Amino acid sequence: MNTPITNPLRIGLRQEKVIPPQCLVIFGASGDLTHRKLVPALFELFKQRRLPREFAVLGCARRPWSDEEFRQKMSISLQKQIKDEKDSWDEFSKYLFYESIDLNQSSQIEKLRTRLENIDKLQATHSNRTFYLSVAPEFYGNACRALSSSGLLNDPKRSRVVIEKPFGRDYTSAQSLNRLVQSCGQENQIFRIDHYLGKETVQNILVLRFANTIFEPIWNRNYISNVQITAAETVGIEERSGYYESSGAIRDMVQNHLTQMLAITAMEPPGHFDPESIRNEKAKVLKATTLADELEPWRCCVRGQYGKGGTNSSPLVSYKEEVGVDPNSTTETYVAMKLFINNWRWQGVPFYVRTGKRLAKRRSEIVLTFREAPVHLFETTGGRPTSNQLILRIQPDEGAEFRFEVKSPGSGMSSRPVDMEFSYDQSFGEPSDEGYVRLLADAMLGDPTLFTRSDEVEAAWRLYTPLLEIIADTPWQLPIHPYESRTWGPAAADDLLARDNLLWRRP
Ligand code: BG6
Repeated sequence: MNTPITNPLRIGLRQEKVIPPQCLVIFGASGDLTHRKLVPALFELFKQRRLPREFAVLGCARRPWSDEEFRQKMSISLQKQIKDEKDSWDEFSKYLFYESIDLNQSSQIEKLRTRLENIDKLQATHSNRTFYLSVAPEFYGNACRALSSSGLLNDPKRSRVVIEKPFGRDYTSAQSLNRLVQSCGQENQIFRIDHYLGKETVQNILVLRFANTIFEPIWNRNYISNVQITAAETVGIEERSGYYESSGAIRDMVQNHLTQMLAITAMEPPGHFDPESIRNEKAKVLKATTLADELEPWRCCVRGQYGKGGTNSSPLVSYKEEVGVDPNSTTETYVAMKLFINNWRWQGVPFYVRTGKRLAKRRSEIVLTFREAPVHLFETTGGRPTSNQLILRIQPDEGAEFRFEVKSPGSGMSSRPVDMEFSYDQSFGEPSDEGYVRLLADAMLGDPTLFTRSDEVEAAWRLYTPLLEIIADTPWQLPIHPYESRTWGPAAADDLLARDNLLWRRP
């Protein structure tokens, strides 16, 4: 593969690497993800001039489309985004190709190989290929086997496979899938994607922690009393009942996105900024993480499901009334839980994570609450003095804020909390890229830093599998608490914190 170089055409604050010549093959190209995320992300990379001239996207699915039909479908789906950029789109769409392939039929892999060889000649893509599996998880194994048996993964420097979530359904299935994909290629060819790691603000946690000297000395149990990690959404399940009914919030959001945020927040400083050093530290901290009550896990986890809500003019249906959902469904759309990390840095510090659909606001954030001052010398406006808090705003309104006490104006000596703020938008004046832009570029560059390694995925599944087993075998131990749509979730989640004399932060 070519050595990445810094693109002199990108000016301003960004320093970007140029992607080497290659063909990106998308399996599942007729699916939702391709037109909602992947093609828009590639178009963005094209506009940023980060794609090489020697480039191609080969969409593959069963539908018998031609190249032209694929281009047409994509331009219809992206209509809104491209309306003022027609010329750029026309240029970009010349890189889109399509081949009707069913990877479950072994004979079809030859057809793929022939097409790739043609594309190599046409676009000078040097047999350098990134295979993106945007197919249903049950096909991951077959797809990897087909690619490997046909020799398309033989050269680890020129071929890699990107695998979408969910990677497994529990610890055992994730282990088997890891074994299978590792038998098809080397670990450094496998890119397990978690789009939260592509978010600028999640990566910023690393910079904030390890490029500043003031945080590291206090980033531990001596100064931090608890950590809250929230991913709140206002949307419901949209048209994904088929997937969501068999997934639920633990599998959909907690095992991957929230756990990755936890790992980055809690990991030890790596010796170097290279993929393996970072992933070693993340894997280590995940292996040290446990449910707060391992013997009686139902005591540290609350599940909820959204009910009706909204306003008279725009009412919202309950989860059970969504199209395709079982009217007696016990799938959780909300989960809150308490975890501990058993190592020197974090022993005894509770990490509370929560996520839910149809909550009051769309807000993802990490809140580190510091220990209270040992003696309270001043009166406080509002009763109890507030503890210092560092709030890392992941989305929207990306940034960070630090909450501390100051003297209230006037003759007395009372204190009140204020916020010191940093906003990405105000400081840099340009919106962050979508996570997929960064992650697609990194995969095509062969940089696995922001992708989850096999041991991380297994450690995360191992953590939640006891809960998933209870839900499957004795669901009454982890009952579903209904909550009204557009509220902050069930009262039972507040009780989880109230038992520790704490409150969830209302973002
Ligand atoms: C996906 C989940 O992985 O992440 C969705 O499957 C969820 O259910 C989405 O809505 C949230 O992503 P974001 O980037 O909008 O926070």
